[in-house]
Amino acid sequence: MRREFEEPVRPRSEQVIGREELLGRARDQLSRGGSVLLYGPPGIGKSTVLRAITTEYAESARTVLRCSATESESHLPFLALVDLLGLVADEVADTLPAPQQAALEAALTGRAEPSLHQDGLALRLAVLSVLRALAAKGPVLLVADDLQWLDAPSAELLGFAARRLGGVPVRMLGAVRTGTEPKEQEHDPYLRAYPPETLALRLPPLSRPQVSELLAGRGYPGLRRSTLRDIHHTSGGNPLFALELGRTKCSALLNDMLVVPRVSRFPRVVRVLRACGRR
Ligand SMILES: Nc1ncnc2c1ncn2[C@@H]1O[C@H](COP(=O)(O)OP(=O)(O)OP(=O)(O)O)[C@@H](O)[C@H]1O
Ligand SMILES: [Mg+2]
Repeated sequence: MRREFEEPVRPRSEQVIGREELLGRARDQLSRGGSVLLYGPPGIGKSTVLRAITTEYAESARTVLRCSATESESHLPFLALVDLLGLVADEVADTLPAPQQAALEAALTGRAEPSLHQDGLALRLAVLSVLRALAAKGPVLLVADDLQWLDAPSAELLGFAARRLGGVPVRMLGAVRTGTEPKEQEHDPYLRAYPPETLALRLPPLSRPQVSELLAGRGYPGLRRSTLRDIHHTSGGNPLFALELGRTKCSALLNDMLVVPRVSRFPRVVRVLRACGRR
């Protein structure tokens, strides 16, 4: 029986434009039992690809563990650990030695020392033991979005486990907001959470036809070629920016229509409203 924790996977229908090569490389790496880290600037589509890969791999995993860090909560120690293991730890906790059980319980209930000094080894071993015990029942997929905001103790614990899980069916899939190759920033705490042989994949910008497909799919069909060219150029192929520009262009077009004399403007306004997806 497959188990899932945290928010449900989004419906399969979420359309991912382009990214075939990237998805192929991620697929190969995960099939080999390796880990994947997606990276790129804000809005480039990391979470979208992360969800697509998760949906695909969740099928073959018995347990899917997830966390998605947020900036406003990144100071809370063990929060990611709670998100990842909070609902599943009980399933295997009785297989852990008593000191590990106690340390894990303290961390998951907010009583542990954030510094990881006191009971630090017991807690590190407990996280490793839980992942091993879950993996003994079937493959585990551990998905973490917005790793740039992962709380530091959770990053430390995950890293300790990740470095010792070789040969154990626990695959890690993550996304981090950064414009540069994650390995160049070794001081970043999220890097400690991933095994050194993790495949880091940068999300490139979308091409002009892909931006055009994105806009058409989101209710901005029929934009002029020159407008699409402008949107692609200005957004630099960033899907979030392109969608925002598409919306703005449509609103501007609509405002222009409204200065036309009232009787003649109606059919044009309807056309623009349609083009803007505001039917
Ligand atoms: N390949 C894609 N196909 C279709 N839509 C996409 C694609 N990539 C991104 N989008 C859309 O662009 C927007 C931004 O994508 P997403 O949230 O995945 O970016 P992100 O890189 O995770 O951003 P952030 O750094 O803020 O977390 C969303 O509306 C998403 O649906
Ligand atoms: Mg995201």
